[in-house]
Amino acid sequence: MMKKKLISAFTCLLVTFAGKAQQQEKLSGPEDIDRILSLLTLEEKASLVVGPGYKSMLAGITGSQVPVPGAAGMTRAVPRLGIPAIVLSDGPAGVRIEPRRKGVSQTFYCTGFPIGSLLSASWNVDLVQRVGAAIGNEALEYGVDVMLAPGMNLMRNPLCGRNFEYFSEDPLLSGRVAAAYVKGVQSQGVGTSVKHFAANNQETNRFWNDSRVSEDVLRRLYLRNFEIAVKEAQPWTVMASYNRLNGVHTQQDRWLLTDVLRGEWGFEGLVMTDWTPRRDTGAQIEAGCDLMEPGAGSQIREIVRKVRRGELAEQALDVCVRRVLELAVKTPAFKGYRPSGAPDLEAHARIAREAAEEGMVLLKNRESALPLREGAVLALFGVGSYHLIPGGTGSGHVHRPYVVNPDEGLEKEGFTLDESLAAIYRKYLKKNMPRKTITSGMLGSPAAPEMPLSRATVESAAENADVAILTLSRQAGEGGDRKLKDDFLLTVPETRMLVDVSEVFHARGKRVIVLLNVGGAVETASWKHLPVAILLAWQPGQEGGNALARVLSGKVNPSGVLPLSFPSDYMDLPSSAHFPYDYAGASSMGGGRDKDRDVPNFGYTEYAEGMDVGYRYYQKAGAPAPSYPFGHGLSYTSFEEERGAETNGTVQVTVRNTGKVAGKHVVLVMDPDLRGFGKTRLLQPGEEEMLVIRLDF
Ligand code: BGC
Repeated sequence: MMKKKLISAFTCLLVTFAGKAQQQEKLSGPEDIDRILSLLTLEEKASLVVGPGYKSMLAGITGSQVPVPGAAGMTRAVPRLGIPAIVLSDGPAGVRIEPRRKGVSQTFYCTGFPIGSLLSASWNVDLVQRVGAAIGNEALEYGVDVMLAPGMNLMRNPLCGRNFEYFSEDPLLSGRVAAAYVKGVQSQGVGTSVKHFAANNQETNRFWNDSRVSEDVLRRLYLRNFEIAVKEAQPWTVMASYNRLNGVHTQQDRWLLTDVLRGEWGFEGLVMTDWTPRRDTGAQIEAGCDLMEPGAGSQIREIVRKVRRGELAEQALDVCVRRVLELAVKTPAFKGYRPSGAPDLEAHARIAREAAEEGMVLLKNRESALPLREGAVLALFGVGSYHLIPGGTGSGHVHRPYVVNPDEGLEKEGFTLDESLAAIYRKYLKKNMPRKTITSGMLGSPAAPEMPLSRATVESAAENADVAILTLSRQAGEGGDRKLKDDFLLTVPETRMLVDVSEVFHARGKRVIVLLNVGGAVETASWKHLPVAILLAWQPGQEGGNALARVLSGKVNPSGVLPLSFPSDYMDLPSSAHFPYDYAGASSMGGGRDKDRDVPNFGYTEYAEGMDVGYRYYQKAGAPAPSYPFGHGLSYTSFEEERGAETNGTVQVTVRNTGKVAGKHVVLVMDPDLRGFGKTRLLQPGEEEMLVIRLDF
């Protein structure tokens, strides 16, 4: 008996001891990173800097077991040392994960927020920070550790296919809005990845294109916004871009990733690649690129081989591994956070609506045509009036629970629609909506083609309705640039619709209003005289229809201001001479590879326009006038600004509402470039507010 007791006490001791030893082996926090580094094998180190491929992104299709199906990527875990896998998800207009999982009744829809251009058009950094916090919270509650967002490349040219994800043609606005987004997400204990670093200003030939930019212009424009975001918000990570910069792939560019980003700006986080394994992994590590995504097994083998042969210093690898571990210990995954799977989607939808309302820009409002008269009967034209484009395609697409279309929003707001016209459009849309494919299911669908309108349909609508509202929609996304024809320029059916509706409604003394449901600039100069009012609704996210209805009804006074110029003529832009625009071409899909052979196409883009980008060009003597300038945006009320003296890098501006309704006002300090900006709270008629505006250093 005694002998038995002794044996069991001994076994107990052994188990406890083994457990303790095992526990001590595990990564316990930031102070433990040195020890863990010394315990990792070379293979484990290599595996930590190389993601596991498309496993999580494609899990919805392949059914592979991952923590978050549909997340863009992950890192590899080392369970024996307690190093967790980190889950990375796109952005930026919300968390992009699979909304449904096989055999699970619970859903994982994420709020579809407005696109980046709309957020910056609000010029309200506090609001953007709240949007960021809501996105960060959804990420946290769905098990995501790092948001691959925000996208913040400068809008060099309006045809860039991803401009909708980006913020502005001005680096100060872009940098500050990005910083606010980052602060918001990171306030939830979830990381961000500001992207795409750097000079990724087109999608054509995106994997290989060489952006040729002088260092001066780079620093003043294309790096400047990243510098501001890094210094103001310390994003946990930065994503290098696909393109080359002055001959070097950015993810292999030591000057960019180590000397400038870390050395000069003090970036403390991790750099990851954009989603391609086709590069020199050793060179990336030496340049200061820490994480290869989505990652391929061959990259692990390449690293191990190079270290063994002495072609890559193990210390360089250790630097990257350390940064992966430093990131890991900050994540919810490491901290053992149990995602609820149930973020407050209703509260976030309210934030999405508020943001959409605040970023819409009233471009034109003659005869005070807006707000609409209460109870007006509306004839809604354009497929976008019944099927809103809430955001772009590609990695910027979000699986939202619903989208409120303009017709639904306007009806909810108490307006009566011309139902016979609505019935024609709805029937057309049923037949002509682009079919869902696996790709469009994952990355978003193109817009439906515009419906050709008969004159008789327009005539009968003009009989029934008081006002015509005509929506023009655009869709764009990753992997291709926009075309000049049928995209920047209106299509033939759109032009015909605009002309016919204007003629018929004007003949009866009735008004025409245009809604622009677009991700960026479109040509307006040739037709903007036709409608009395134009509201730039952007791609306003899932609550778009509600938001625009509240702006049209006057419940919300528009306070958005353009963060980019609307050119009169595309060819006016100096960058148009050096942008690979495709007038009507078949496809400008990125990749830069011959369709059949994996051969890189070493194209390049000369940034020969230098600083002549956006308003910096238009404000030069002798430059043509844009159709709508940077900083333009009307209100239903009027304001007066009184500027005080500059002190300690700030300027005081007193704003007074001199009109008849409450409103918010954006102040821009231009000298001649943007040096600072601020936005008032909602000011009642006669009320004033003093803004203290921080000026750029
Ligand atoms: C895009 C990135 C995105 C990544 C992961 C890439 O193609 O350029 O913005 O984060 O895919 O989806």
